Amino acid sequence: MSTSLDGARRRAEELRRLISEHDYYYYVLDQPRISDAEYDALLQELIELEQTYPELITPSSPTQRVGGRPAEGFRPVRHRQPLLSLANAFGADDLKEFDQRVRQVVGPVDYVVEPKIDGLTVALVYQDGQLLTGATRGDGEVGEDITANLKTVRTVPLTLRRNLPRLEVRGEAYMTKEAFVRLNEEREAQGEPTFANPRNAAAGSLRQLDPRVTAARALNVFVYALMYSEGLEVATHDESLNILAELGFVVIPYRRVCTTIDEVIDLCQEWTDRRHELPFEIDGLVIKVNSFSQQNDLGATSKTPRWAIAYKFPAEQAITVIEDIIIRVGRTGVLTPTAILKPVRLAGSTVSRATLHNEDVIREKDVRIGDTVVVQKAGDVIPEVVEVCRERRQGQERPFTMPVVCPECRAPVIRLPGEAAARCTGTNCPAQLREGIIHFVSRDAMNIEGLGPAAISQLIASGLIKDAADLYYLDRGELLKLERMGEKSADNLLAAIEQSKHNSLAQLIFALGIRHVGQRAARILARQFGSLERLQAATYEELTGIPEIGSKIAESVCNFFAQEQNRVVLEKLKRAGVDPRERQTKDLPQLLAGKQFVLTGGLETLTRKEAEALIEQLGGKVSSSVSRKTDYVVVGADPGAKYDKAVALGITILHEDEFLELVKSSKIR
Ligand code: IVH
Repeated sequence: MSTSLDGARRRAEELRRLISEHDYYYYVLDQPRISDAEYDALLQELIELEQTYPELITPSSPTQRVGGRPAEGFRPVRHRQPLLSLANAFGADDLKEFDQRVRQVVGPVDYVVEPKIDGLTVALVYQDGQLLTGATRGDGEVGEDITANLKTVRTVPLTLRRNLPRLEVRGEAYMTKEAFVRLNEEREAQGEPTFANPRNAAAGSLRQLDPRVTAARALNVFVYALMYSEGLEVATHDESLNILAELGFVVIPYRRVCTTIDEVIDLCQEWTDRRHELPFEIDGLVIKVNSFSQQNDLGATSKTPRWAIAYKFPAEQAITVIEDIIIRVGRTGVLTPTAILKPVRLAGSTVSRATLHNEDVIREKDVRIGDTVVVQKAGDVIPEVVEVCRERRQGQERPFTMPVVCPECRAPVIRLPGEAAARCTGTNCPAQLREGIIHFVSRDAMNIEGLGPAAISQLIASGLIKDAADLYYLDRGELLKLERMGEKSADNLLAAIEQSKHNSLAQLIFALGIRHVGQRAARILARQFGSLERLQAATYEELTGIPEIGSKIAESVCNFFAQEQNRVVLEKLKRAGVDPRERQTKDLPQLLAGKQFVLTGGLETLTRKEAEALIEQLGGKVSSSVSRKTDYVVVGADPGAKYDKAVALGITILHEDEFLELVKSSKIR
């Protein structure tokens, strides 16, 4: 083994230890000891080391969190112990009955009361301190192997802080309410269907065949049960959670040990009132006998343990009347029907609007203007119409039909086959412009403060802006003519706009609102191309050649830049001085600049895409056929006719190891 490989291995191990240590401070203790930038630097160093020495990659390396390759389907995994469900309690009487049954069998008990997270069960198995498998509940006996996806979840430790021969735990994967709202906003903006609630969003994210999609979603796991362990002595559930936290898990928060059922009942009452204060959704509380030996004595029925029960919160719904149904036109032209409600109190706030999602939903539920309806907050956040109270119909209710022209610009509305969404086809639709600018100035995009939706509407109505680039040409005098625009707000706004010129290229790309290009894709594109000009010049092949960029994004990027009006906006932005550059991942010496490569045969250590990306990062070009212009032909196993042609033309042949040597000597680090 060469000394450099030895050194690299030691450094990689050190980096993994450091990263896992800082994950623990950050996620479990909530007390980070280094800045995000320092953390990113450690991770980046490890990524680069592993790129140079792919043989150093281990399955539980933190770099593997970014997500491997899509699976064909999920492999079934049999659970060592079946995943039981819980019996339900709906009030104090049910809880008292449960308590009596328990005490009859085991005498005096302590209970642990903890939130019942509304997410998805996950079963995690660790062997020799490393995450071995992560699985869904499935039918309770056999679940699906979602290890690759769970690895992308930051709060799931890949390596335990103590090396135990075997450990099995269960927990709940969930999405915070905030992450859910953001994900839906992003999906809506990109013209993709939204999730009904955080639980569905978490399920949809975790059951992705492509772990890279999971990686891009903000998922978390709370561990709530130790199922099996070798090398641990634990007597109670409470203690087991303390130990699991020490091992690196984020355990279920807000748990309390209670000694009487009255205490438990009080807690249930308290949480019924306070549940909305939590940043994640809970649908009840779980009450568990604390002592493991008492749990054993109580045992289980075929379906549920006798030592635990779920207290379910009463459902929160309200009844009101739909006064009107209006259409909102989104940034990508999607028309969303929205019910205007007679204001009603619901789950801690007054609601006066509810989404009706799309035409199909309206038809399915047969929702009409004037109907009395049951509303609830979908996943506690966005109000939605659950059902119509048909028996309350008077006969004057009016069915709703989707408009055939856009209510804002009168352009025809189309609905593509297979899509639930109806879209405005207008290219100068003021609603699309307004929504596009709201997105452009939003926090994760150009982050221009002091420019709310009302001000944007004003700017558009007064003709001061016709596209996002016009923001950079605003005149102070013109601004002051606007209603409610004082000198101070005008100056602040102009300063914020000026400031935004220093934003990163990734922010600008995201701000452009290219369909399917979310923050993550924007970051990848920025790093890959380094400037808007180079991104604009990118071909479909170059785009799909980037490992994380699929055909959908590539197509959308090409379409975007092909449109004359977008090119005009970019030109105007540039002239205004909005032209950020990004240090490319590589900013590597372009040692392969001007060299043309052809790849043939299967490579062992790299996929075809990775090899292509590597060549391009170093300034080389990859083409699909051998000609006199080709400089190198890289041959793997079973090369095809390209090899023969290269030999015939006298072109330099590189075997895989020679190719890797060449790439390495270009110092990818
Ligand atoms: S204990 C044998 N604790 O609720 C004990 N379950 O019907 C099994 N859940 O889908 C469950 N939060 O994933 C337990 N703090 C908590 C929980 C919890 C959510 C879920 C669990 C399962 C369902 C139980």
